[in-house]
Amino acid sequence: MEIGPIPRPARLEYREGIFQSTGIPGITGDQAFAGEMALVAEQFRRDLGGPPGKAAVVCRAVPPLREGGQGEEAYRLMVTGEGISLEASAGAGIYRGLQTLRQFVLSGYKDNTLTIPRLTIEDYPRFPWRGCMLDVSRHFYTPAFIKKLLDVLSLHHINVFHWHLTDDQGWRLPVPAYPELIETGSKRRNTRNPHVPEVKQFYTPEEIRELVSYAGARHIMVVPEVDLPGHTKAVLAAYPEMGCTGGPYQLEDRHGIFPDVLCAGNDRIFDLLGAVFDTLTELFPAPYVHIGGDEVPSSRWDVCPKCRRRLGELGFERARQLQGWLTVRFAQMLTDRHKIPLGWDEVLEDTEKLGLPDELVIMSWRGSEGGITASSMGRRVVMAPSNGGCYLDYRNYDSPEEPGAGSRITRVYDAYLTDPITPEMTGEQAALVLGGQGNLWSELPYASRWAEYMLFPRMCALAEAFWSPRELKDFASFTQRLPAHQKRLDMLNILQYRGPLQ
Ligand code: ACM
Ligand code: ZN
Repeated sequence: MEIGPIPRPARLEYREGIFQSTGIPGITGDQAFAGEMALVAEQFRRDLGGPPGKAAVVCRAVPPLREGGQGEEAYRLMVTGEGISLEASAGAGIYRGLQTLRQFVLSGYKDNTLTIPRLTIEDYPRFPWRGCMLDVSRHFYTPAFIKKLLDVLSLHHINVFHWHLTDDQGWRLPVPAYPELIETGSKRRNTRNPHVPEVKQFYTPEEIRELVSYAGARHIMVVPEVDLPGHTKAVLAAYPEMGCTGGPYQLEDRHGIFPDVLCAGNDRIFDLLGAVFDTLTELFPAPYVHIGGDEVPSSRWDVCPKCRRRLGELGFERARQLQGWLTVRFAQMLTDRHKIPLGWDEVLEDTEKLGLPDELVIMSWRGSEGGITASSMGRRVVMAPSNGGCYLDYRNYDSPEEPGAGSRITRVYDAYLTDPITPEMTGEQAALVLGGQGNLWSELPYASRWAEYMLFPRMCALAEAFWSPRELKDFASFTQRLPAHQKRLDMLNILQYRGPLQ
């Protein structure tokens, strides 16, 4: 069986012979990497069980193996007859290298004996942003599950966890000055899971800090999203004065696009969002905050006296232009807090009057067009096209037996073929592409086992699309490596789709 890693390393050379040792391999080396070495040694113990063996792995600090941004994550892994050596200039590279090694260890450990082919790997990422988005609003996932997910994502060198914390069906972030966001806003109505009562479901500040730290130890950045100004029924149910009609409002109990959004004519929304952004700044060290911006109807703004007054003051012709104005305000509030804002590609629209701040990063989801347009304007982008292999709420295969949202399909093959750099982009545009990500929306998967099934192995395919050199992307090679990889994920107790790939 082909046991080569996923994602495929930039260079892998097998040599004659094997390395063998007894017991769970220990890890030693440069004390600069003490955190990574202890963490991965613990992963080995948990993955394998069994008696400890000798320190077979030695980690060494070396000057950067690549120039520029790729340097920190680059590593060199050598397995000889005598032992295993890993070199990198930074903890990130050591962690990535140890995860590649972890794949060989998972495949090569039997009856307390580890067997690995002799090899040399020189590896580095193609893109700096290799993300996975999890929607915890429509259905909530426990901190324990998120830890399990972060750990297995890191096995694939995924380095961004985009945490979709709020939506019409639930608000999961406690904000001290606005307690109703949790008291009212975190109780989904009518969950699809008959076993879950309508209770408050949110993350405490301690849980958030712990998850951020758990991710950070795995060199994963946690990017929180608060979806604004649409997808805010949970805010409106909690604070009805933030909406155009004044309510009353209820949380939604089904996925959709709903007319009630934040009132663009009411300055109190900025007080609330100031408090929200303060909370995010306090809890999340990452430089980025996602402000949503997708699927915002303007029908309420069209007829709301407060919104009409705002339109007049701003000299706008159309209510839709208020979204552009809000985006600029929200982005400014974040840059005041030294954060870089991200928005879904709709934020590019109706902005001809005010423009958009230069630092705003676009996440392209309705296709690749938003990313192509934004990068042509000199703006940085992250690609997550729903029609291009990145939407993991869609079914794996065109069969009525498969669970998934709507009629659309994301086959493993589609995920594999995704390329954040599209043929339309010039070299300058390509340089503005930070990378890509897979998105899991959770209206259907109300249980974490189901989420795993939607994520894997499609996230494995995406990880290769975002990490491996373009010239090494080869679906035939991927499908040869996948069976051994799925066995590794079985050992980590991940429920996976195993039907047709294409
Ligand atoms: C989205 O899928 N509404 C960003
Ligand atoms: Zn209004």
